[in-house]
Amino acid sequence: MAARHFLTLLDFSPAELDQLIDNAISLKKGWRSGEIRDSLRNRVLAMIFEKASTRTRVSFEAGMTQLGGSALFLSPNDTQLGRGEPIEDSSRVISSMVDAVMIRTFEHDKIERFAGASSVPVINALTDQFHPCQLLADMQTFREHRGSIRGATVTWIGDGNNMCDSYINAAEQFGFKLHIACPEGYEPDAELLDANADRVKVIREPEEAVRGAHLIATDVWASMGQEQEQAIRARAFAPYQVTPKLMKLADPEALFMHCLPAHRGEEISEDMLEHASAVVWDEAENRLHAQKALLEFLILGG
Ligand code: CP
Ligand code: NVA
Repeated sequence: MAARHFLTLLDFSPAELDQLIDNAISLKKGWRSGEIRDSLRNRVLAMIFEKASTRTRVSFEAGMTQLGGSALFLSPNDTQLGRGEPIEDSSRVISSMVDAVMIRTFEHDKIERFAGASSVPVINALTDQFHPCQLLADMQTFREHRGSIRGATVTWIGDGNNMCDSYINAAEQFGFKLHIACPEGYEPDAELLDANADRVKVIREPEEAVRGAHLIATDVWASMGQEQEQAIRARAFAPYQVTPKLMKLADPEALFMHCLPAHRGEEISEDMLEHASAVVWDEAENRLHAQKALLEFLILGG
């Protein structure tokens, strides 16, 4: 049977995603109470990082160890991937030796090509277009704090980037309405917007976009690989900073999320991470629990 992959949230059914989050919550409880678990004993995850990472690397590596397995860190600088070995050849070889592969890279089609040649599950740990693992943690965090997100209104403020595109997929899979407040020229993927026109709306004014929303999320203005656009983006995004004043216009129970790393004074005001609505530290920790559930699902087969 062909391996299942997790390249976007659309690779799983809504029921599978709900079940995965149930398991993440239960793994978190077990881990906190000191339970020893070895569901992935002797299993190995290869982790290919072509971009920097703190949360993703630590959570996948710690997660594999906590489940009795291990993880290998592979950077293009020290593998043949960085010296031009074809992706398909690398995939065939690496996947013949490990139980799953996690990749953080630039072009989304690179991970699709890798998955196409892989005999084991491939996990998208961020591409220029999607960051589905972060959405698992975000959805777990919302569920823990507020219950089901179905029927809620979520507002994305800022760049129509990989996180925003994944929020559009999440709107479809988890059943919420999504408002996107972004400057002109920084919209999310047009095809994705069209395909989700019934649940996703671009609303230019942040003040209007957050009205009544139950979750506000944002991200950096310049993503990895866009560092040279920082100054021009800082000008375009200046009216899109998330502040306590903006949060006042949302639902009184609204939560605030940021995938981190955050740039205080840019996409958020200096005090936003300490605001009563902010659940960013739980959100970051949940990367560990959600991905442990993901690894068990993919490696053990649901
Ligand atoms: N949110 C996130 O993916 O963080 P890292 O870049 O540190 O992995
Ligand atoms: N949009 C950001 C997310 C970092 C976790 C980036 O791609 O750099």
